[in-house]
Amino acid sequence: MGLLFAMREATGLPCWQDAKQRAKETKNRIFLMVKQSFAVQNYNFFFIYANKKVKKPCVCHKKVVTLQPILKNYRYMLKDNIQTLLSQVSEMQAANAEELEALRIKYLSKKGEITALFNEFRTVPNEEKRELGQLLNHLRQQAEERMNELREQINDKCQASQDQLDLTRTPDPIALGTRHPLSLVREEIEDIFSRIGFTIAQGPEVEDDKHVYGMLNFAPEHPARDMQDTFFIEKEIGVQKPTDVLLRSHTSSVQTRVMTSQKPPIRVLCPGRVYRNEAISARAHCFFHQVEGLYIDKNVSFADLREALLYFSKEMFGADTKIRLRPSYFPFTEPSAEMDISCNICGGVGCSFCKGTGWVEILGCGMVDPNVLEACGIDSKQYSGFAFGMGVERITNLKYRVKDLRLFSENDVRFLKQFESC
Ligand code: PHE
Repeated sequence: MGLLFAMREATGLPCWQDAKQRAKETKNRIFLMVKQSFAVQNYNFFFIYANKKVKKPCVCHKKVVTLQPILKNYRYMLKDNIQTLLSQVSEMQAANAEELEALRIKYLSKKGEITALFNEFRTVPNEEKRELGQLLNHLRQQAEERMNELREQINDKCQASQDQLDLTRTPDPIALGTRHPLSLVREEIEDIFSRIGFTIAQGPEVEDDKHVYGMLNFAPEHPARDMQDTFFIEKEIGVQKPTDVLLRSHTSSVQTRVMTSQKPPIRVLCPGRVYRNEAISARAHCFFHQVEGLYIDKNVSFADLREALLYFSKEMFGADTKIRLRPSYFPFTEPSAEMDISCNICGGVGCSFCKGTGWVEILGCGMVDPNVLEACGIDSKQYSGFAFGMGVERITNLKYRVKDLRLFSENDVRFLKQFESC
C-alpha cells in the first residue's frame, strides 16, 4: 500500500477526479481514503492510498504541490500530540480508584487519546514509522507506569487507613462530666458523719409551716415567717396557719419529720436544698444547700456536741483545725451557739479572708429545745439531743475558695471542670 494522493477537503471534489485519473495512469487501484484533520492549519485532508506503492505521490491543494511539506506537517502534528500527552501523563493525579479509572478511560481505552494516536500512526509513511512508533510506545509506557504508580499510592492509602482501624479498641470514650463541687463537699460531710453513726434522712422541699416553723418552737410572729424571708406557695395574707405551704428555709424540717416518725436514739444527717427570699448576689442566693444533723438519746450533753463538731472540723479541714463556740440564738435549740473554725487560709494568724480575726464561722448548733422534743412526741425528761446545721456553699468556699456563689448554679463548664480531679 502506498500514498497516491493527498488533497485538501475544500478542493476535494475536483481532486478526487484527479486522483482517479492518476490511479489509472499509474495502473493502481484506489485502496483506502483517510480523512485527517490538521489542527494547526485547521484543514481537513484526504489521503488516498493505492493498493501498491506509488513512486511519486501527489498532493492536491488548488495547485498541485509536493507531498513533502504535508508529510512534514503531519509528522510534526503527531509528534506534537505525543509531546502534549506525555506531559499530561506525567502530571496525572488520582485521589481514588474512580479517578484512576477515569484517567485510564481518557488515555488508554479503545477511544482514549493515546489509542487515537496509535490509530493515526497507521497512516504515517513508512519512513516516519520508526521514530514516531518509538515515541508512541514510549508515551504508552509512560502512561501505564504512571497509572501503576497512582494505583500503588491509592492502595497504600487504603491499607494505611485499614491499619489505623483497630477493631479491638474500645470506642471513643463518651465525654464524662465532672462532679459538682457542692456534691463533692456534701458527700464528704456525709462521709465524715457516717463514720460516727449518722444516717441520711430526706424530706420534701415544699413543706408546711408546721414542720418548718411551728414544731421548731418559732413564735407565731417570728420574722423568719415573713414573706420577705420565706417563699410561700399557699398562704392567706395576714393569717398564719400550720398548713401554710412554703419552700423550706432550712432542713430542720426534716428533723421534725424524723422525730415524729422515729423513736430515739436518733442520729441523722439531713442534707438538701433550701430557699430564702434573698436578692441574688456574689454572697447571697435565693437557694442554697444545707447539711443539718440531729442526735437524740439519753444523756446527750453539750460536750458530745462539741466533740462531734471538733471531730468533723479536723476531718474536713485538717488535724490542726481548732474550733470555738460562741453563744447565739435559735428558737429550736437551747443553749445555742455558732461555731467558728480557725482560719484554714492563714492558720489563725489573721488574713483578709477571716477579716484579721483568725476565725471563720461555719455553722449553727445547740441542744435541742425541750419544747421541740415535746412537740415531736419525745419525752424531754428522758431524752436530750443536739442539732447543728451548716451551709454546703460556705464549706465549699472554704475548701476551694469560690468567690462568687452564683458560679455554683450557672452551669458554666469552665468552672465545673476545675473540680475534675477531686
Ligand atoms: N436551721 C439553722 C439554720 O438554718 C441551723 C441550725 C440547725 C442551728 C440546728 C442550730 C441547730 O440556720
